[in-house]
Amino acid sequence: MDFQLLTPALVAEFEAIVGTAHVLTAQHTEADVYADYGRDHTEDLQFTPDVVVRPGNAEEISRIVRLCHEHRIPITARGAGTGLSGGALPVHQGVVLSTERLNRILEIDERNLQATVEPGVVNEAFQNAVKEVGLFYPPDPASKGSCSLGGNLAHSSGGPKAVKYGTTKDYVLNLQVVLPTGELIWTAANTLKNSTGYNLTQLMIGSEGTLGIITKVVFRLLPYPKQNILMLVPFRQEAQAAEAVSAVFRAGIIPSGMEFMEREAIVWSSDYLKIPLTLPEDIRAHLLIELDGQDLDQLYKEAEAVYGVLEGYDIGEILLADTAAQKDDLWKIRRNIGNSVRYNSVYKEEDTVVPRAELPTLLRGVKEIGSRYGFTSVCYGHAGDGNLHVNIIRGDLDDEMWNVGLRQPITEIFELCVKLGGTISGEHGIGLVQKGYIGIALPDTNLELMRGIKRVFDPHGIMNPGKIF
Ligand code: LAC
Ligand code: ZN
Repeated sequence: MDFQLLTPALVAEFEAIVGTAHVLTAQHTEADVYADYGRDHTEDLQFTPDVVVRPGNAEEISRIVRLCHEHRIPITARGAGTGLSGGALPVHQGVVLSTERLNRILEIDERNLQATVEPGVVNEAFQNAVKEVGLFYPPDPASKGSCSLGGNLAHSSGGPKAVKYGTTKDYVLNLQVVLPTGELIWTAANTLKNSTGYNLTQLMIGSEGTLGIITKVVFRLLPYPKQNILMLVPFRQEAQAAEAVSAVFRAGIIPSGMEFMEREAIVWSSDYLKIPLTLPEDIRAHLLIELDGQDLDQLYKEAEAVYGVLEGYDIGEILLADTAAQKDDLWKIRRNIGNSVRYNSVYKEEDTVVPRAELPTLLRGVKEIGSRYGFTSVCYGHAGDGNLHVNIIRGDLDDEMWNVGLRQPITEIFELCVKLGGTISGEHGIGLVQKGYIGIALPDTNLELMRGIKRVFDPHGIMNPGKIF
């Protein structure tokens, strides 16, 4: 793509649209603050945009995008910057458009169990707001305390609850979007059903800011499940933990959380959080299993069925969390695995996903590939979804191995996923760091269709260039 350089005249136009306080340049901004807009949670990658613009509403975004379209300026939308595939990185410089000021919950419609929000709302703030009126927004990425809903939509993020309730895509009814030409559209209607033409809503979700900028979202909600049971199950063999996962479902139980953590994952995270956890030497992995619903007696019956399944495996003593504080601690440990790994070392995150029952084969394969190529990985994830986060630890790997040598083993991991009926990302997207591998999962015909769609939406290729393909 032939992009043009940003001129002072254009910066002045941005200032006229959003106000000078909301147009940041490297020269006039504190270095740390500016640097933050050029990185996310992906490895140690850092880019420098020409300018950061912080609009306050959809109309301002539309005017900025129209200018970028006319002048061929790259524009990268950014939520909270917690992404793990480099989707928000301004790799072609140009404009970083931050949605941080679009952070209002516009309406919670209790009659229809719906809510309308802006994309900069933090996931957990939204969950809490709807919970206050007895409603439930299930998608709960590990970073829910800081990630934005717009970012969640960009990647169709999941989280532990996805196993029972689905991912972000399953809760979106309608989207207001600024297209790459600057036009403002709604994709659908505020209905639970919609059989009216192509599904532009689902096309936008997971498109990682390459087809438009989402400016409003209409979500559907559920009644809040008031009761839950949480248990931590220690296994003496990693593969058995993975095997038990599908056995629980086959026994007729759909947990609201079914998380796998290998030994290092839980040890690193509890150390990082300074939450003490006694872990016998022979325990290699854990499953964190949550059941939820409205009726506690029913949940105890389900828990008994789960215990029945687990009896068939070589497990240690099950910890049944009996206070809210204990449940919080266990979830905190689970949610902070990624942070604890990042705290210990730079790492590459591979968001592998396979049909649930293939998880043991994937796990064994990842470890075998690691020992053959000489790297260690910390593995954990949403086992009920067959979604394993493989964190390849930099440790003392040299630059050559880190930047080039790992490509072959990562290719082998992804090829294994595809061979097992899976794919290369379940919930983190392709972004920048996985785009070199997309051909492993998708044939040329599919990629050509996607490129065609991109050209229809964004003829000048200005929107989040350098991502996905
Ligand atoms: C998690 C994030 C990394 O599950 O997806 O912890
Ligand atoms: Zn995850």
